[in-house]
Amino acid sequence: MTRLDSVIRRLTAQRDLLNWAAQEISPTGFVLELGLGNGRTYDHLRTKMPGREIYAFERSPAAHPDCYPPEGYLIVGDIFETLPAFIKRLGHGAAALVHTDIGTGDEEANRQLALRLSPLLDSLLQPGGLLIADRAFEMPSCTDISSRTNVPEGRYFVYRRNA
Ligand SMILES: C[S@@+](CC[C@H](N)C(=O)[O-])C[C@H]1O[C@@H](n2cnc3c(N)ncnc32)[C@H](O)[C@@H]1O
Repeated sequence: MTRLDSVIRRLTAQRDLLNWAAQEISPTGFVLELGLGNGRTYDHLRTKMPGREIYAFERSPAAHPDCYPPEGYLIVGDIFETLPAFIKRLGHGAAALVHTDIGTGDEEANRQLALRLSPLLDSLLQPGGLLIADRAFEMPSCTDISSRTNVPEGRYFVYRRNA
């Protein structure tokens, strides 16, 4: 598989799961985009979920100019500082969907990042809430339902918070 094939497969899985989540999530609760980046997946989320409150988190905003969240919905800074404050402000269990796409090519760094982030995500999700992630997370209060989606194993990850 070429690197081009690999990127296309990853982005296809990402889009398929965001489309699936748009049908699946509860009608109430926030949507969180962790890692605004270029704004591509944020743009997809807001298009597929019109009217939803979507907060995007990013430490170095540099998105396409058309893909910035409205005022108050872009949280700038390192998520390990901004997310705890966000949870304090909006409450535990406030999120219907979290999409996280903040990894790099460094697998050990990604593993450490996922370990640090897991407890924060755990407390953010409402019962039945979904985490869609570019890598595996340790989510003790969730069920890994990745294999119940149509996405091939190991390409993207889905967790549902237990009731
Ligand atoms: C792969 S890009 C996201 C791409 C995005 N999903 C899109 O479709 O355009 C990852 C982004 O996460 C941000 N990021 C990585 N670690 C972060 C952290 N600890 N806090 C806040 N943002 C972070 C990076 O600055 C980068 O813009």
